[in-house]
Order: sequence, then C-alpha cells, then structure tokens
Amino acid sequence: MSDAQTRRIQVDLSGKVACVTGAGRGIGRAIAVTLGQAGASVACVDVNLEMAQETAATIRSFGKGQAEAFPCDVTDSNQVNATVESIVEKFGGLHILVNNAGITRDGLLLRMKDEQWDAVIAVNLRGTFLFTRAAARYLIRAGGARVINIASISGLMGNPGQANYSASKAGVIGFTRTVAKELASRQVTVNAIAPGFIATEMAHALGEQALEEIKKRTPLGRLGDPQDVADLALFLASDSAAFITGTVIRVDGGLAE
Ligand SMILES: NC(=O)c1ccc[n+]([C@@H]2O[C@H](COP(=O)([O-])OP(=O)(O)OC[C@H]3O[C@@H](n4cnc5c(N)ncnc54)[C@H](O)[C@@H]3O)[C@@H](O)[C@H]2O)c1
Repeated sequence: MSDAQTRRIQVDLSGKVACVTGAGRGIGRAIAVTLGQAGASVACVDVNLEMAQETAATIRSFGKGQAEAFPCDVTDSNQVNATVESIVEKFGGLHILVNNAGITRDGLLLRMKDEQWDAVIAVNLRGTFLFTRAAARYLIRAGGARVINIASISGLMGNPGQANYSASKAGVIGFTRTVAKELASRQVTVNAIAPGFIATEMAHALGEQALEEIKKRTPLGRLGDPQDVADLALFLASDSAAFITGTVIRVDGGLAE
C-alpha cells in the first residue's frame, strides 16, 4: 500500500453522504471513489448514466459505504431538484456536495459562438448554482456539511482560447466566496479547488504537443493526476478542514502565479 493510500484511509467519512457531480469519469470519478474508500455513501451524478454506474460499482466493490448512480443534467433545474430529493430519500441526508461537472468549448474570442459561451456557462456555473441551491437546506440540516466546487486556474489567471471557461470558473470562485459567507453561521463550509492541468480526457483534448508545453511550464514538471485533486477534496471533506471556508486552493504543480 502506498503512503498516499495509507493517509487517505485515516479520514473516516462513515455515516456521511456525499454527492459528486460529473462522477462518471476523470476528476469526478477519482473524487467519488476516494470519498467512498473513506467510508462515505456516494451519490454518483452524471449526464452519462452508464459511466456513473461504473463509478458506483467500483465504490460498492470496496464493501464500505453504499453508492448509487443518478442520471442528471446539471443545467436543468427540474432534474437537479428531483435528483437531490432522490439522493436524500435514498441515503437519508446529504453532508458533502462536490460540484465537479464541467465542460470546455474552446475558441478565440473573435470566433466564439453564442452556443459555445452559453453551453460552458450553463454547465460550469449555472450547474454549480442549481445543485448548491437544491442541496442547501439538507446541508444545513446535516451539521458541519461541506461544499467543494471544482474551479480551475484558468478562472484565476485566464487562458487564451478559454474566455467562456475562464469566466465560468471565475464565476464559480465568486459564488464560492459568497455562499461561504451566507452558510457559515450554519456550519457549512464552502471552498473551491483550482486544478492546473490534470491528465483526463478533457486535458487530452488539447493535444499531446500542447500538453508537453504545459509540462515544461509547470514547475513540478508533470501534469496532475485526478488523484492529486481527489486527495485535497478528501481533506476538505474531513473534520480536519472544519475551520477552512471561502478559500480557493490550487492543485497545479506551481503553474499559476
Ligand atoms: N482536466 C483538467 O485539466 C482540469 C483542470 C482544471 C479544472 N478542471 C475541472 O475539473 C472538472 C472535471 O474535469 P475532468 O477533466 O474530469 O473532465 P471530464 O470531461 O473527464 O469529465 C467531466 C464529467 O462531467 C460530466 N458532465 C458534463 N456535462 C454534464 C452535465 N451537463 N450534467 C452532468 N454531468 C455532466 C461528463 O459526463 C463527465 O463524466 C471540471 O469542472 C473541469 O472544468 C479540469
């Protein structure tokens, strides 16, 4: 067993219910599995039901917490409300919400179509708002609940070709800071993780040459692994992070200034 795995096991989330959006693959999958390994019951939400079912089956195979897949498009208010109700009905509450579902539709500003702008804002920003709003009253009831929003260093420093994506992630950061203040008196913490370039299908869409350049620009000399992000999510979900709220934490190998 690696040192990292040993450390993860020390966080005990048994009795907690976690909901991870975009849990079907990539970073969301790593977060869902990691929270499940720590004993949480995990609602794996994704627009792609089959992929969410695979994640849930992986979590169940550990024989610790329960896991179930929930099909949901995070941009659709009715679907989001119904999904949160189903999760609470199935698991009896909600303690940890991870807003991870996200997309890119890259293009330079002068050529960016309305649809590219709207699609990215809808999933990354509106989806985070809809899920957090739907979950808020259950998180308040849970006592010591957690919201973890997956932003991006693009939302902090900008990235050519990603005006839509950077704006959505900067929006997620502003949303995080405000909701942290609104829910603090109810002991709900709200934080954002800003990953750099993480080796998932989203990043690989940039092409191998671009990724080699990014590795060269990254002080730690590699792309991140989804587990690098999942380990921080696990810490933020744990009791050890009870006094941390309204922050943005980078997981980027030192890339952003
Ligand atoms: N990979 C990176 O380099 C990187 C860097 C910074 C931030 N991020 C952020 O991390 C998060 C996860 O990224 P990833 O690299 O794992 O991406 P990914 O494309 O591998 O996975 C995204 C998941 O979200 C799901 N999804 C997409 N639209 C959805 C919708 N409308 N409703 C529900 N689910 C939906 C997809 O089906 C998929 O399972 C995103 O918010 C992304 O912006 C990624």
